[in-house]
Formats: sequence, structure tokens, C-alpha cells
Amino acid sequence: MGLSGHDLLSVGDLGSAELEALLERSAELKRGADPGTPLARRSVALIFLRPSNRTRVSFEAAIARLGGHPIALFDREIEMGKRESVGDVGRILDRFVDGLVARIPSERDLRGLARAMKSPVINAMTDLGHPCQILADCLTVREQLGHLAGARVTFVGDGNNVCNSWIEAAQVAGIDLRVVTPSGYEPAPRVLQAAAQLPGAGGGRVLVTNDLDQGLAGTEVIYTDVWTSMGQEEQHEDRRQDFGPYQVNERVLERAPEGTRVMHCLPAHRGEEITDGVIDGPHSIVFEQAANRYWLQLALLAEIFGPTGSEG
Ligand code: CP
Ligand code: NVA
Repeated sequence: MGLSGHDLLSVGDLGSAELEALLERSAELKRGADPGTPLARRSVALIFLRPSNRTRVSFEAAIARLGGHPIALFDREIEMGKRESVGDVGRILDRFVDGLVARIPSERDLRGLARAMKSPVINAMTDLGHPCQILADCLTVREQLGHLAGARVTFVGDGNNVCNSWIEAAQVAGIDLRVVTPSGYEPAPRVLQAAAQLPGAGGGRVLVTNDLDQGLAGTEVIYTDVWTSMGQEEQHEDRRQDFGPYQVNERVLERAPEGTRVMHCLPAHRGEEITDGVIDGPHSIVFEQAANRYWLQLALLAEIFGPTGSEG
């Protein structure tokens, strides 16, 4: 089917063959292949209602590399849903630009924008998912382990947006995912149920546990994320208490198999979910991981806006 002209709202929008093709294209571009300029004379809007370093900068750089013009919009300008309805924001943008990259807390608003626009919409993170992050992380795991299917990945932390997108990826790519959370912070059952319905490569499984040692057994990658996501700031103190035993620190690495890699989507709250010694230590691949945001999104944009898209 291919991604040309399509939205990318969740990892589950991709079939396993499409995901594999996207990762291969990302790897080729990283090795120096020329992506061309499929976005020449075209513009892509970026709505960021939450802060970002990696996502916005890597998207803007990739859009420019493909010949396009990025136009970033922030909450104070558009006041979406207040100054103007979500649907009207989408209908207007659709008349000026050729695509949209959107970081919006509400998944419902993201989908409302996608419905209002004929041009492709890419999810740059909602409270429910962070697909571009996890697609790039799949590239990193594939590079590091030499394969993605069957990779043993242990997500330690909150059953949050990043975790949810990993759960979808496990089904699509056939990953052996273990999700280790404190009691009460497990991923929502509906997320697990919806992911299990996705057509997948086969072999994917998701174990949800509160037992760190169970999650670490035989693992190849420990992955963590902040305990307090954007928008949850008032819960910070409670979360620090609840997540304390799940900090990824030197003692946790000793309990994991030798050679286990450590990943983190960043930004890190050093001293909370991860220690300086681990994030800066020999097991950490977090900066290689961050670099792959650019390559994956370059490939994603090239596929969506490529020659078989709405225009050459
Ligand atoms: N990992 C990630 O999405 O980082 P930003 O919030 O800085 O974009
Ligand atoms: N779970 C984090 C991810 C940040 C990239 C958040 O939503 O804030």
C-alpha cells in the first residue's frame, strides 16, 4: 500500500511490511542516499502545543532537507479550540500548506484535525501516543541488535504515551516487550486490547508486570521515560514516591544481562527515572537514539510526500 499521501497518527497505522520498508529507507538515507526534494515549493505546518527540542527541530531540519518550508505554530498564536475550533484550524491550514506535523495533548483533537484536512497529518505526540519516537527507536534497536523481530525490550516506568506506542510496535514488528510499572501505573487495558487486534508480523508479545526482575530476565534493551509527563506536573511529588523503586540505576543494570543497552526518549529527568552514571555510561545509547529521530522522520516525510504522493 505505501505511505504516500497518508496520515501517520499511530504506529498501528503501519503494517509490518510498511514498517520494515520505512526502517530500510531510513537506514539507506543515513548511509548517504539522496532523498531528493519531494517537498520543493511546498510547505508543512507544525503545531506544537507542548514544548519540544528533538521532535520539532528534527522535523524542521528534515522538511528543509527535502526542499520544503516548515511553518511552526504555537499555542499562543492559534489558541486552538479557544480562538477557533479545531476543525476550522485544520480547514484553514489545509488551504495554505501541504501537510501538518502536530504535537497536541488531545488525541481526539489530533484526529479532528486529520479529519478536517485532506493533506497528510503526522502525530508528533499526544497524551496517548508518540509514534515518531517509537518508529525511530525501532530503527535504533534494529541497528544495535541487527534485527527488530524478536528483540527483547523492557520498558521500565509509566504506562504512558511512549509505552503505548511501544505496545503497538510490539504487535506490528513482533517484539518481545516487557512493561514494568509500579502498581497503578500500568498501561490502559484498552490500549493493550486495541494493539492485540492489529495485524502484525507474528511473534509479538507484551508482558505487563510490577516485578522488575521478571521484566529484566533475558532482556536486550532497557527503555525508560520520565515518571511525570508533560501535563502531569501537579502529580510530580506523588509520582517520585511511587516510581522510586523503578529507577534505572547501576544496581538495576547489574540485575540485567551483560551487554544490555539502555534507551530513553529524552528529555531525561536525571536523578529520577535514570541516574547520571547510567545515562552517561557505557550501556547507554540515548544520543544515537536521539539522532535517529532525524533519519526516521526524513524517510517518513520522503515516503508520505514522495513522487507517488499528491505531487512529484
Ligand atoms: N523525545 C522527544 O519527543 O523530545 P522532545 O519533547 O524534545 O521533542
Ligand atoms: N512521556 C513524555 C515524553 C516526552 C517526549 C511526555 O509526554 O512528556
